[in-house]
Amino acid sequence: MRYVFLTGATGGLGRAVVELLSRRGYGVFAAGTNERRIAELAELPRVIPIRADVTDDQSLLAARETVLSHTPSLYAVVNFAGLTAFGSLVEGDCIPTIQRLLDINVTGTARVNRLFFELVRAGGGRIVNCSSEAGWMKPQPFAGAYFLSKRAVEAYNDSLRRELMFLGVPVVKIQPGSYRTAITDAVNEGFERMLGETRLYGRVLSRMKPMMDQELSRSGNPRALAAVVLRALEARRPRLRYRAGTGKLLALMELLPDRTVDWLYRLACGRVSRAE
Ligand SMILES: NC(=O)c1ccc[n+]([C@@H]2O[C@H](COP(=O)([O-])OP(=O)(O)OC[C@H]3O[C@@H](n4cnc5c(N)ncnc54)[C@H](OP(=O)(O)O)[C@@H]3O)[C@@H](O)[C@H]2O)c1
Repeated sequence: MRYVFLTGATGGLGRAVVELLSRRGYGVFAAGTNERRIAELAELPRVIPIRADVTDDQSLLAARETVLSHTPSLYAVVNFAGLTAFGSLVEGDCIPTIQRLLDINVTGTARVNRLFFELVRAGGGRIVNCSSEAGWMKPQPFAGAYFLSKRAVEAYNDSLRRELMFLGVPVVKIQPGSYRTAITDAVNEGFERMLGETRLYGRVLSRMKPMMDQELSRSGNPRALAAVVLRALEARRPRLRYRAGTGKLLALMELLPDRTVDWLYRLACGRVSRAE
């Protein structure tokens, strides 16, 4: 049986991947921290739920022991653990948010791959890292912590690929657009919190809201992304990156110069005078 270790298995996208892999006959070590959702994963065939926090070496070492008690090697490690955030980089204290996102999205991914690498190599396997459209697109306002963490995931992923190519271990990145999961709720909650607290950006946020709602309302079904991840896992020669789910409007904005995009955001959301 092919075994996969997957973080973020308790989340919207990760759970969809676990379900698909389970149906395809894979053995899945499905990792997360939420006890209730971990317990629910146990109902799926060939799924072994594991409690593992990607910010904690000891917790991941214990997870590796569990994996080793079933198999000496892995077909793949898939990193889906990740957080988002919505907020200002100057109003309030963004530093704890940035640190948390870097710790989970970036260092967490690096920690998992470092600790599970030998099992992947032993299995002739591959590593899949979840980036985002935030990993390659022009940043949107008030999503700075998330964009900078996913840009770092991209740099980490590409560096890892350039290293592991010498060993014949493929490293693949997934760049999802917008999908309906708890992350969508987190963005909305962050927006409402910021709107309630801001001194500077009340008007800008109110004008931005319809655009945000429109973007979030066309979020895709996580099952569609799971099919993309399966392709990355089963391709004999996987692509370097798999992009899916990015909206046409955002994709079009990528064709414009940065200053034009700045101008469009200011046109749509207005300016804040120095007196405000
Ligand atoms: N949904 C989208 O539109 C979208 C778009 C682009 C990229 N992505 C990326 O896709 C990945 C999955 O996101 P999602 O949409 O499925 O979000 P989600 O439903 O909120 O799931 C997030 C997952 O991350 C796990 N996680 C968070 N902190 C963790 C920690 N310290 N240790 C271990 N696991 C941790 C959560 O597990 P517990 O709750 O059990 O801790 C959960 O399984 C993320 O990397 C995200 O950036 C999502």
